[in-house]
Amino acid sequence: MQENEIPPLGGYSDAELDRAFAEVAREVEKTAVSLHSAEDKEQFRLAWLGRKQGRLKLISDAWLKSAPPEAKKQIGQRFNALKAEIERLLEMAGDGPAASELDAEAIDITLPGTRRKLGAEHPLIKTWNEIVSVFQRMGYSVGVGPEIETDYYNFESLNFPPGHPARDTQDTLVVAGQERKPLRDRLLMRTHTSPVQIRTMEQQPPPLRIVIPGKVHRNDAADATHYPIFHQVEGLCVDTNITFGDLKGTLDFAMKAFFGSSVKTRFFPSFFPFTEPSADVQISCPFCGGSGCRKCKYSGWIELLGCGMVDPAVFGFVQGKQPGYDPKKISGFAFGMGIDRIAMMKYGIGDIGLLYSGDLRFLEQFA
Ligand code: PHE
Repeated sequence: MQENEIPPLGGYSDAELDRAFAEVAREVEKTAVSLHSAEDKEQFRLAWLGRKQGRLKLISDAWLKSAPPEAKKQIGQRFNALKAEIERLLEMAGDGPAASELDAEAIDITLPGTRRKLGAEHPLIKTWNEIVSVFQRMGYSVGVGPEIETDYYNFESLNFPPGHPARDTQDTLVVAGQERKPLRDRLLMRTHTSPVQIRTMEQQPPPLRIVIPGKVHRNDAADATHYPIFHQVEGLCVDTNITFGDLKGTLDFAMKAFFGSSVKTRFFPSFFPFTEPSADVQISCPFCGGSGCRKCKYSGWIELLGCGMVDPAVFGFVQGKQPGYDPKKISGFAFGMGIDRIAMMKYGIGDIGLLYSGDLRFLEQFA
């Protein structure tokens, strides 16, 4: 049907009237679907319901006026229904913006999408992963152990007998209400990752090469370098003929891999109940190359970790469960380093508390 063309009426039977009105209704619906703006609606209203040139008026003029009197009522009823339908469609169409505005809005390239912020690795976890991966490249596997330990694993089996003064070097947070248990079964927060040495050896016969990173707890008052929670990476290597030379070579290689190939290491006699001999390891200051700066307190060296050859007494504690740990046949070394200390040194962090503050202003610097 062309615009302004009045569809012809082929008679006045009910069927013909129904057909003719249905044709007009289809046309109404077709134009009504694209009514968006107030402007569109006004045009539609004028086109169909306009008093003078409205299509409904023109059709009514053409069909009704010439109709025989007995058909007028049938036609009139259908006109009223059609008019009601047009009004209903007009009402239903929303009052959107004008068509011109609509074009601009179709793809609003000025509106940014919701963006999820990318997280960043915490400096502590970054350091943790870096240390672990250095040892993984040397063939070490990675283990875990519980943070709540028994006195047996944290101390006794590591050759700290009850009442041994070396226990005092690790101020311990104990779990309340354990007094009625035998000392060895009492629970505490592990003060170091070394108990996992025993747990690992109880599970696996030698040879063994493993690193165990994890969280440890001590009853230390917080200051710039102490915090009641911190992190260590434990290392343990057991095989036949493992010597102090292997220990030195391994740690020297690891420190060079971690801090750069120009770093030197040196070993000082120390004491741990579970290693004999024991040593503290220092590295030449990676910041000043050993000439002395603030980071190494002008000494040229930075103390980084404790280590030593596994004490035969420690193998003795394991042997009941794993007879392979016969100190006459095997030997091994162990080491433990503080992840927090290394992270602070590497990133120039002056206060350990910042690592635990959850302060985004601090953390965002590592993103
Ligand atoms: N566990 C010791 C500490 O926390 C470090 C250490 C580990 C020393 C392994 C020797 C061997 O101080």
